[in-house]
Formats: sequence, structure tokens, C-alpha cells
Amino acid sequence: MNLEWAAGEEQSVVHGGQASRLEKIQSDPGCKHKHMDPHQRLSDKSSQEIVPSEGDVNRSPFREEWLQNHTGAETRHWLEEDAKYFLHQSLSTPCLNVLQHCEGIYLEDLEGRRYMDFHGNNVHQAGFAHPRVIQAIKDQLDKLSFCTRRYTNIPAIQLAKKLAELAPGDLNKVLFAPGGTSAIGMALKLARAATGRFKTISMWDSFHGASLDAISIGGEALFRQGIGPLLPGTEHVPPPDPAHCPWGCAGTCNLKCAEYIEYVLEKEGDTAAVIAETVRSTPYIPPPDYWRVVREACDRHGALLILDEIPHCLGRTGKMFTFEHYGIIPDMVVIGKGLGGAVFPLAALIVRESLDCVPERALGHYTHEKNPVACAAALALIEVLESENLLENARRLGDYALERMHAMKVRHPLIGDVRGLGLLMGIELLKDRATRERATPEAEQVMYAALAKGLSFKVTMGNILTLTPPLTITQPQLDTAFDILEDCLREIEQT
Ligand SMILES: Cc1ncc(COP(=O)(O)O)c(C=O)c1O
Repeated sequence: MNLEWAAGEEQSVVHGGQASRLEKIQSDPGCKHKHMDPHQRLSDKSSQEIVPSEGDVNRSPFREEWLQNHTGAETRHWLEEDAKYFLHQSLSTPCLNVLQHCEGIYLEDLEGRRYMDFHGNNVHQAGFAHPRVIQAIKDQLDKLSFCTRRYTNIPAIQLAKKLAELAPGDLNKVLFAPGGTSAIGMALKLARAATGRFKTISMWDSFHGASLDAISIGGEALFRQGIGPLLPGTEHVPPPDPAHCPWGCAGTCNLKCAEYIEYVLEKEGDTAAVIAETVRSTPYIPPPDYWRVVREACDRHGALLILDEIPHCLGRTGKMFTFEHYGIIPDMVVIGKGLGGAVFPLAALIVRESLDCVPERALGHYTHEKNPVACAAALALIEVLESENLLENARRLGDYALERMHAMKVRHPLIGDVRGLGLLMGIELLKDRATRERATPEAEQVMYAALAKGLSFKVTMGNILTLTPPLTITQPQLDTAFDILEDCLREIEQT
């Protein structure tokens, strides 16, 4: 096969069959890396030592081997075309495969192979192409396909009303955006406008989107390094991650990390907001009292609490909103991803009624802020979540999966830890449970071995098999997926 991928900051510069393109980039006056030797880029600290927190490695020998063994000429042709016409960027290029269909819990590639999708970018609570979502979209397209600003439309109003009804407390005011990152931007602007302050506290390792404002509050080196000045006033604190706790809680969170947030709030004195993912997707699941401690600290210091539930809301954890597990109510919650029914990009900022206080400002002003078709898809998604009892399914199968993962940990030395909340699950692979050294190549091997057996998922932090199936999944399907995982673990443990 004639596709080869070169590592480096661009991560996806094609050579081999298309050597001239690498040369082109080097000689291109617009590319600041033109004088950098590609081998220098390979050994560049920023690209080598960064823990791949957000995604799997798409430039490794395992990827190359998988491509060799599992793709035919037509797929390779389209992958080359993709690499030729899309701007290369980390994590999304080079692509793994070419899809032609998705339905229910399955993806189907160009060559007709099906994969259970335990990744789905977290858009697929109701599975892909749910018939009621698709029908609602078709019906809406025939009625009103767009809503020009200055006008409103019934699906948008109905969706805002439904979200206000679903959200507890006085989280009653809504603004839509065409994606999660944009909705995070609206939340940051509203926090500044409402408090008259600009500082934020957010978490290392967190992800809130890839725009400049979102990477300023985000905590991932891959997004933050080498891009120039970020937003001022964006303090970071350690996340609730007992395995890597700077206070040495040795695996059992003692809430020192939550208390430290109050320490920073006090020292800064004028923080606008604490912004964090309620539960990090890896998943890191904070202990039951964590958010109560943070909520109370925010109240004492006049800071707003903004929770980013873009990947898990609505429903993945077994509750509509993840913060409902913690008995607190934030001042703002940001949701997105699956809100558009696994079809449309749609996100929402839902805030306390009292924060509707800056009518003279533009918080979002997005062209698609009241897209009737996206809103019809979201209404249909919520109807499916409710009528098919998908939250109950997430809770029941989540408990079942956690039991099974604990049993797997006993059988497989590679498994260092298992975690889950509803159908947000993680299996952490370690080379050694005592030293907690990450089993990064092994995780990647498991991922490709599972793909070959028809199971797709994402690896985060380099060593955590992150499993997020549709909430429509059945117990036998879940068992099939775990059987595949166990087969793969066994194969890799024996080599
Ligand atoms: C926690 C979190 N916040 C924000 C975002 C950004 O959302 P979007 O890609 O829709 O802009 C993501 C996307 O992965 C996310 O996981």
C-alpha cells in the first residue's frame, strides 16, 4: 500500500506516494515550519511528550498495519483524496476509514464492514438515524427549513421550553449555538457581563472545545501549546483524578482538590466563574460531595458555576443532566453533541433566570441560533429518550457493565482500573498496577484488534479505553462488545 503517514506537529503530512507534498509544505512561504527539518519535528518535545488526552494516535505503526490489512483500493483512493483536500490537523487527520452508512449502534464502511460504535463522538444517545428523528427532520424540512434572524419559529420555542422544563431549579433561560465550543464562548461572555469580572478557574486536562477562548480554559497541552497568548485570567486547578492527585490521596479522593478551588477563589478575590466538565469523559468521576463543596465555595466568593455537559447531556449517565447525580444546581450548564439527534450540530446554554441580565449585548448572534430543523431533531430526540426509557436503560446497563468490567479486571492483568456512570465507561490499561505506568501501546493494540472484530471506541489519555455506546443498546449487544474486548485483551496479554 502506498499510503504512509509522517509524524510531526502536522501529524499527517503525506509522503511515500506523495513525497512532493511534504516538500511543498517545507517550501511554502506561508508555513512557519518551512525551515524545520521533518526529523526535527518528529523529535519536537511538544509533539512527542504530550499525553494524547483527547484521542487515539492516528499516525502510529499500528494504524499503518490496520490500514494495510483492512482497506481495499477504493477506500485507499478516498483516504488519499481526503488527505489531499482537507487541511491537516491533529486528531482528525489522517482518517482511519471511509464510512457509507450508520444506523442504530452500527457504522458501516465503504467495503460493507459493520462496527458497533462505542465512540460516536457522543452524539448518538438514540443511535444513528433513529426513524423518529429522521422523520421529524423530513417533516420540518417540508414546512420551514430556516429561520432568518428577527423571526422566531415554533420548534425553537418548543425546544427552549422543553429544556427549561427538564432542567431543575431556575435554569429556565436558553440560547442555542451551532456547536458546543460556541456555546462555551457564550457562557464565558455571559459570566463576564453578569459579574463584571473576567477571571475563570478551570481544570487541567479538561476539554471545552478548540477555539482560542475554549483552549484558554481547557487544560490539554495538545491544544494549548505553541499557539501564542491565550485569554488572560484563566487559572487552572488539578481535576478530581485520584490516581494522579497532587495531594497524594492515593486513589481515594479526600476532596482536597475541591477545597483548593476555594483557596484560589479566595486568593484571586474576583473570579467570574468556575467552569468544568461535571464528569470528564475519560471518565474521571468526582466523588459524591465534590460538586457540593465547589458550589458552596462559588457562592461564598461570588463566582458563577458553569458546568460543561456537552458530551453527556442529555441522558448518557442515566440522568438527563449529569449534575443531577450530585444534588447541586449550577448557574449555567452547556449541552450539545447529541442534542441534534446525531444529525445536526446543535448546542445550548441553559442559565438561571436571573442571568438574563444583558439584553443589550450579543452573546452568541449565530446565524443558525434558531434553526427549525435542528430544533425539530432535538425535540424528536428528547421524545425518543423519554418514550423508550433510555435513561433507565443507561442506568440498568451501566450497572451491569460496571459489574462485568470489575470481573474483567480480575481476569486481565492489563486492566488497572474500571469506571462508569450510566453508559459512560472507561477501562484504564496499566503496565503495572503498582507504578500506574500507562499501557499506551497496549491500549492502541487493543483498539485496533477490537476494530478488526467489529467494535469501535476511543482511547483517551493514551491508555483509557473509553466506551460510550448508544443508550439504545441491548444487554446481548453489550455482552458481545465486552466479549470482543476480552478476546483482544487476552491476545495482547499473551504476546
Ligand atoms: C467536554 C466538551 N466540551 C466542549 C466540546 C466542544 O464541542 P463541539 O465540538 O460541539 O464544539 C467537546 C467536544 O468534544 C467536549 O467533549
